[in-house]
Amino acid sequence: MDKSAFEDRTTITGPMHAPLKHDSAHKHVAGTADYIDDMPEPAGTLHAALGLTDRAHAEIVEVDLSAVAAVPGVVCVLTARDMPHSNDISPTHLHDEPVLADGRVQFHGQPAFAVIAETRDIARRAARLARITYRDLPTVIDVVDAMATGGEFVTPPLTLQRGDAEGALERSPRRLKGKMRIGGQEHFYLEGHIALAVPGEDDEMTVWVSTQHPSEIQRMVAQVLGVPVNAVTVNVRRMGGGFGGKETQGNQFAALAAVAARKLRRAVKFRPDRDDDMTATGKRHDFLVDYDVGFDDDGHILAVHANYAARCGFSADLSGPVTDRALFHADNAYFYPNVKLTSEPLKTNTVSNTAFRGFGGPQGMVGGERIIEEIAYALGKDPLNIRKLNFYGDGDSGRDVTPYHQKVEDNIIRRIVDELEASADYQARRAAIIEFNRSSRVIRKGIALTPVKFGISFTLTHLNQAGALVHIYTDGSIHLNHGGTEMGQGVYTKVAQVLADSFQIDVDRVKITATTTGKVPNTSATAASSGSDLNGMAAFDAARQIKERLVAFAAERWQTTAENVSFVPNHVKIGEELVPFAELIRQAYAARVQLSAAGFYATPKIHWDRATGRGTPFYYFAYGAAVSEVSIDTLTGEYLVDRVDVLHDVGRSLNPAIDLGQIEGGFVQGMGWLTTEELWWDEKGRLRTHAPSTYKIPLASDRPKIFNVRLAEWSQNVEKTIGRSKAVGEPPLMLPISVLEALSMAVASVADYRECPRLDTPATPERILMAVERLRQI
Ligand code: MTE
Ligand code: MOS
Repeated sequence: MDKSAFEDRTTITGPMHAPLKHDSAHKHVAGTADYIDDMPEPAGTLHAALGLTDRAHAEIVEVDLSAVAAVPGVVCVLTARDMPHSNDISPTHLHDEPVLADGRVQFHGQPAFAVIAETRDIARRAARLARITYRDLPTVIDVVDAMATGGEFVTPPLTLQRGDAEGALERSPRRLKGKMRIGGQEHFYLEGHIALAVPGEDDEMTVWVSTQHPSEIQRMVAQVLGVPVNAVTVNVRRMGGGFGGKETQGNQFAALAAVAARKLRRAVKFRPDRDDDMTATGKRHDFLVDYDVGFDDDGHILAVHANYAARCGFSADLSGPVTDRALFHADNAYFYPNVKLTSEPLKTNTVSNTAFRGFGGPQGMVGGERIIEEIAYALGKDPLNIRKLNFYGDGDSGRDVTPYHQKVEDNIIRRIVDELEASADYQARRAAIIEFNRSSRVIRKGIALTPVKFGISFTLTHLNQAGALVHIYTDGSIHLNHGGTEMGQGVYTKVAQVLADSFQIDVDRVKITATTTGKVPNTSATAASSGSDLNGMAAFDAARQIKERLVAFAAERWQTTAENVSFVPNHVKIGEELVPFAELIRQAYAARVQLSAAGFYATPKIHWDRATGRGTPFYYFAYGAAVSEVSIDTLTGEYLVDRVDVLHDVGRSLNPAIDLGQIEGGFVQGMGWLTTEELWWDEKGRLRTHAPSTYKIPLASDRPKIFNVRLAEWSQNVEKTIGRSKAVGEPPLMLPISVLEALSMAVASVADYRECPRLDTPATPERILMAVERLRQI
């Protein structure tokens, strides 16, 4: 096997580790990057809008769509009965998610019909004219309601345990119990959901969809239409952001566009407006965490027992793996000698929650970090000291086993934290802040350093596979296709770098092409941060195959041995001769050498047995840490993030420029989640925060005033990942837990740090103010 990708490189050689710009960066800002809504529409394209219900839980008694159908320009109205074969788009085998509500409404805003019209505006206006009569049923909106009324699960819960948590809790010198609510999050991708379906001859259907998971869209469209999967082709060049919100949530739009296109034999485009997109598609799960921790007087954790209850919405969707991943990250970077963790994936009459950057991991970790904070306040110590006491060991200490019985073999959290503590001048700044708070009446400051340890791999083991297709044309230019989808994270650029590096050619000789089910089949969602790990390796494998053929050809033609053939920048060195790459390709073609290959990769080592809660679900861990400093106004609850320092581990970076962008973007998105982004359902189950007017994502002005982000440049993956890199997409989202804890410290200062403020998230200015007021009473 070609080992070049795994060499422990000390200098940058080819394009693989170079800080190249994102291939579309200039097009994003110039407005020349094509999104689906920018594509020229086929003649006669029709437009669709959703008809939303306005009950959280009810039987549908009657649906009168005559006024809708009568609007001039409306071409047809689709209901559940119009689905040619199946009304099911469940991503699981539970068959609990209909394309359109049939007989029963399960959340406020669930689509019951779709209007197809000559223009989008006509479709939207007509959709409002429906008359639906309901018979109301009891509703469960919130996790607390769900638990109080028997707690139906949408998917089986998980238990992770090691040692004897209950016994150890009872024997612990100190013990603390608490609850924390962790809010959900709207994805707020800039480009909303969109699907364009174009019917072909016979049963063929081509769909352009903004999706992270073309293969699933393909299967869903085939299932709803009742055609074999090979009749459907799904294409996506790029998304204007996905963040997990386009793993399964595009199914509905693609299926409806395809059904209408089949029925009307015209192209149909479905682009919901922002309010409908926010109302009818799933979000990050909010959680209620109940924890019970035992510890000693120094702050060593002896036992943890925690329950993670999640609002899943009306169907399973991805709630199983999301709530599992919450448990997998409840330990974060800490060793729990005795532990029992349980999940409760609760059914509610709300939109079905879904993947969102971190996939439940962030919620798990926030709970784990709250436990650390509780211990620190109880003992009157700096939380950083408690963190350091409890870090996983480095392999030989017996303190390296996770609650799921995987050993942590690549632990670098101590080095990361020590370096960051020094470079951010944490100790001196903390002392200065405590001094400042002593005399400052209104403005209070806080600082916190929090670590991240995030497991990389899909926990459903079989998803950890990928394919790539590589063609070299006779002029030496290369066509690259793989299963990864581009949502801004740079997977296309990174995989092109891998390929260019393999052949030692300039990266602009590689044409990056749109993801399509017709070129690489049966792909996994681009998710779990594993896009470049998996597809990079698949492309590397395709290159290896072509290179083997080229080397054999060159050795024969030049009458030398394979060892004397090597790829050097834009050339192939054969014996003493330097042959331009394009020239070798021309000759290889003339000699009838196959210049195309399909590559494949399956992640080694991992296995997971959910029933016993044991295994090695993660190939490796990515690490990082952040120090955040904040100021709060104790009279209004408003705050500013004054300074953030990050040190993050991406192994040997495939592209440091893109990785820094992922870290900064992930940080700000996570900060929004933990501070200002609040989802609010009223007692009727109506999502009242369904537009940017009521849902506050971070603005440019909310960014940390000083933002120092560095890569841990000394790090290399101990596993044989592509170029020894590590995944970067999700882990940085958890770095801003440091913002939450810094806010907490600022609040705690009003009662001289005697009590843990127990802030729920999002820690909005209202919550900060209420917490300050409460602590002022004690
Ligand atoms: N970065 C941008 N710009 N846009 C996105 O939608 N999605 C995130 C992350 N970074 C996202 C992003 C999520 S949820 C995941 S899982 C990873 O990118 C997916 O891409 P990767 O596996 O190629 O890192
Ligand atoms: Mo990311 S939540 O795995 O799409």
